[in-house]
Amino acid sequence: MVLPVPSDVPGAPAPWAARLSEPGSPVCSPDWLALREPADHAARSGELAARLASRLGARLGAGPDPVVLRDLGCGAGSMGRWLAPRLARRQHWFTHDRDAELAHRAARTSPVPATAVVGDLTDLTDLAGTDVVVCSALLDLLDAADVEHLAALCAGAGATALLTLTVTGDVTVDPADPLDAPVAAAFDAHQRREGRLGPDAADVTADAFTRHGFAVTRRPSPWRLGAGDAALVEEWLRGRLDAACAQDPSLTPHAATHLQRRLDALAAGRLHAQVGHADLLALPRDGGDR
Ligand SMILES: C[S@@+](CC[C@H](N)C(=O)[O-])C[C@H]1O[C@@H](n2cnc3c(N)ncnc32)[C@H](O)[C@@H]1O
Repeated sequence: MVLPVPSDVPGAPAPWAARLSEPGSPVCSPDWLALREPADHAARSGELAARLASRLGARLGAGPDPVVLRDLGCGAGSMGRWLAPRLARRQHWFTHDRDAELAHRAARTSPVPATAVVGDLTDLTDLAGTDVVVCSALLDLLDAADVEHLAALCAGAGATALLTLTVTGDVTVDPADPLDAPVAAAFDAHQRREGRLGPDAADVTADAFTRHGFAVTRRPSPWRLGAGDAALVEEWLRGRLDAACAQDPSLTPHAATHLQRRLDALAAGRLHAQVGHADLLALPRDGGDR
């Protein structure tokens, strides 16, 4: 992976610009998804995956039919590579993304049989025949109506849902920096722009699934990053700062020196970051699940 180097040339990217992502954009580059995949795998709740596996075992026994899973906003297929081996049974995945290249890449690289589905999840009308709906790093990009639609679709299909890595806005970076609080406030506001749920997504989704008759269990799934994650930390810092400056231009004059302080600490092996996420497991309550 070659990272373009931002420069001070007029018209060139700002020195703090993100290199692999458009900050806050739901469009994800394969390089950004690949960079974050190991941290995502380490962060997702193994406990909730184990509960899902045992629920499927109790319901389906050792039946011959594959479990049908749909990964919404699948990106390059990180969720399948993490979850499929944990379910230890025959599976067929449908990898959904509105980005056709990603949907196909996810299906192609899936460890179990998979079929790509290209389209916007808000256009889905029926998930009949689906046992499990999953997503990863998606819900905070949606709005309340999208989440309501998702809960209704899962309820209609009697599908269980495992919804992982939703940002919560709980971020700590050590050593602390004077710009932390204004950057956090601007970043969170940017995430909430135009009705997106941003850091409210886990609460709103848990509420929606509860109202639709699911028993919802929530677990924290933070990234815990340090010197061994330098490339990811740098890109995450850049993306966060880029979004914060877009939201609050008064931060711009301070952005380059703030980033430099962070990068110096990172290079010295002194920087640690915890980035909050939440995982939700939603089980149909009435026993009518597939
Ligand atoms: C942050 S990426 C996460 C990708 C992947 N789930 C992972 O964990 O690596 C969000 C993905 O959701 C997709 N996406 C966002 N909104 C969507 C929508 N409304 N319908 C379908 N896909 C969507 C994007 O194209 C992108 O691939």
